[in-house]
Amino acid sequence: MRAAARAQPNIALIKYWGKRDTEQNLPAVGSISITLADLYTTMRVEFDGALRADMLVVNDAENAAMLPRVSRCLDAVVGVDRSRAAITSTGNFPIAAGLASSASAFAALVVAADAAARKDHSREQLASLAGMASGSAARSIYGGFAELANADDAITLSTLCPAGEWPLSVVVAITATGPKPVGSTEAMETSRETSPFYARWVEQQQADLDEARDAIQSRDFARLGNVAEHNCLKMHSVMWASRPPMVYWNATTLECMDAVRQMQADGVPVFFTIDAGPQLKAVCEPAAVDTVRERLAATPGVEAVMVTGLGGGARLIDDD
Ligand code: DP6
Repeated sequence: MRAAARAQPNIALIKYWGKRDTEQNLPAVGSISITLADLYTTMRVEFDGALRADMLVVNDAENAAMLPRVSRCLDAVVGVDRSRAAITSTGNFPIAAGLASSASAFAALVVAADAAARKDHSREQLASLAGMASGSAARSIYGGFAELANADDAITLSTLCPAGEWPLSVVVAITATGPKPVGSTEAMETSRETSPFYARWVEQQQADLDEARDAIQSRDFARLGNVAEHNCLKMHSVMWASRPPMVYWNATTLECMDAVRQMQADGVPVFFTIDAGPQLKAVCEPAAVDTVRERLAATPGVEAVMVTGLGGGARLIDDD
């Protein structure tokens, strides 16, 4: 009754921001992401009839704060009458800093729990279960360029292009570490309830999805970058105009944005995206990765840079 799985975070190029059903955690909009290769979370799940309560250890420390969300996710995958579980999570990148650690964590968790309890859910079902725990986690079940489409009462996922078929690179500029001021779940609800731009954001999403899908299918880097930056800045405008306002950027985030703009002016194939945190993610063609890494690392205030390619979806690993 035990299994281990590994999943990588994904970065949305066309963002998920807002829910239409908070009970089921269904998104208000579809999204398109790239799954990363070299950052990961490993989840080990062991169901044990002798345990009286679930136990969660994250990076060697017991974590009571995340436990209720993890327990609910296990209930959804296995059933509420399941045995209690010991869950161990380890990752190789900072948690809660806008790097989608919840996406890789919950994608790995559902895959490990499904195998440990021999439930044999399909990949689509695993994606729905991961999405109930954290919307963006559904996309980390899939690799490469993944689209989450928003149907009437469910989500559906598809791979638009496998990782190896359009091998882009991602340079993450870390501008601050530590937890973010407001979590995405709460911030999305504040946006829905108070931002004067929220309705327009939802209304325009289909056009951005269509344009990005086309750009991916025709491997048109400039067009993809253009719509991804537009979609990112539009999402942040929704946040900035919320009450209270939610500003996830710091001065260094803006410096990094400026560095990307300068590289674009110099003809470097690169674009940026930013999630609910202060890190800037620069997506570039592999030939440009050294330039992008050096220019972002040299930007005042940048604490560290991480470089990765695109990778596959969540998978089981040997548990010994
Ligand atoms: C800005 O998936 O963390 O990264 O469903 O409430 O857990 P919950 O939200 P979450 O939100 C991700 C928001 C985003 C954009 C994106 O990844 O699409």
